[in-house]
Amino acid sequence: MSKNCVVIGAQWGDEGKGKIVDLLTEQADVIARFQGGNNAGHTLVVGDQKVILHLIPSGVLHPGKKCLIGNGVVLDPEVFCKELDHLMESGVNVGPEDVRISNKTHLIMPYHREMDKLREMKKSGKDKIGTTGRGIGPAYEDKVARVGIRACDILDPDFMQYKIEKALTEKNVLFQHYFGTETMSREQVWEQVRYWAERIRPYLSDVSGEIQQARNEGKSILYEGAQGVHLDIDHGTYPFVTSSNTVAANASTGSGSGLDMLDRVVAVVKAYTTRVGSGPFPAELSSEVGRHIQEKGDEFGATTGRERRCGWLDLVMLRESVRLSGASEIALTKLDVLSGLEQLHLCTAYMYNQEEIKYPPQIENGLEAVEPVYKSLDGWSEDVSKVQKWEDLPLAAKNYLQAIEEETGVKVSIVSVGPDRESTLRLD
Ligand code: GDP
Ligand code: IMO
Ligand code: MG
Repeated sequence: MSKNCVVIGAQWGDEGKGKIVDLLTEQADVIARFQGGNNAGHTLVVGDQKVILHLIPSGVLHPGKKCLIGNGVVLDPEVFCKELDHLMESGVNVGPEDVRISNKTHLIMPYHREMDKLREMKKSGKDKIGTTGRGIGPAYEDKVARVGIRACDILDPDFMQYKIEKALTEKNVLFQHYFGTETMSREQVWEQVRYWAERIRPYLSDVSGEIQQARNEGKSILYEGAQGVHLDIDHGTYPFVTSSNTVAANASTGSGSGLDMLDRVVAVVKAYTTRVGSGPFPAELSSEVGRHIQEKGDEFGATTGRERRCGWLDLVMLRESVRLSGASEIALTKLDVLSGLEQLHLCTAYMYNQEEIKYPPQIENGLEAVEPVYKSLDGWSEDVSKVQKWEDLPLAAKNYLQAIEEETGVKVSIVSVGPDRESTLRLD
């Protein structure tokens, strides 16, 4: 039987999921996104071409593979169409036979983007989440409040306009009286979205049914996560999180696949830690080393261009991600960025209320109060970006990888040493 695989980010996003999904697509027939929206920025490097995908699954550069957008995603129709156009201009096939959107996917509307930005502006100082401003949170809120617009609503424009009007009722009170901005009318919103809605109509599909059919035909499915476990709405560093479940289990709910479909869970882990936006980050480096990693790793956001905060690899947080996602293996990325550092530090525990703990504290603000406990390891000076085999890695790099395996209990099956497909070691 073919093995289906879930790929998730195990930290705070930007672990290199795009590259790993592109690689694993070789062995898959169908690639499905199951949560998040265009807050994601997944980078693929093929030859001298660099592509950043926000919505379309990272399998799209492989001809003949089907890319699905599941019900758990929130989709901005304009962003989706522009991404299609961009890919088509580069000669990538993204017709309705290649890319499908679930009828049940919720749509991001102009008032969601507006609300996201106004909320962030209204918050002060440490309360700011630092969202991507793409309307993700407000779109998920409407879904849960049962006033969301779904992709299938496009099939009945009168019904869609009726729903827009209903969704605007409460929002206009906030726009006018809380934020002190202009209200929006049903007509205005419809004018802005009708063209994009019409364009995505041919892409609508029963994604759950497509997955079932692929399974019946013996095909394998690759589920592509966005963000990272510690941005999960339930299990992440709340309230500094995104608005969806980023853990592997959501691959099932967010695409309409049975739990028995999830055979392997690949946790993508950056060899150090980064975070964009606000929120606690115990192993953060405010020193010269942090700036060095940021520069060498080119740690600037693929979606908003913001600087990514950098720190040592945090095994306490990683242990938690492994547990929450049932990770069966680790794909470790950006090992090349650590070359040249004399000493490396792995955060193996925290001191919290005078006790050493191995998992993060459960209470809000708990993570702000911990002190990281580090294990020091020798670094390596060699450039590893051309290494293709385990045997050719410097001893110190091998020790680093083995320490990660020992502390998490999970095998490292892929090591990435550069952004392109070729810069990869397969250890299984
Ligand atoms: P994602 O959101 O998890 O897909 O990750 P991003 O694309 O936002 O950020 C990862 C960045 O690291 C991208 O610029 C990738 O091209 C790059 N990258 C991925 N793997 C490696 C690697 O092993 N080494 C280096 N130097 N860069 C990598
Ligand atoms: P990929 O898939 C890194 C962060 C934002 C902010 C918080 C909430 O590329 O790994 P949101 O707009 O989702 O309401 O913002 O989540 N965030 C990400 N950080 N990578 C991402 O995606 C992210 N998507 C959201 O910076 O702190
Ligand atoms: Mg990213």
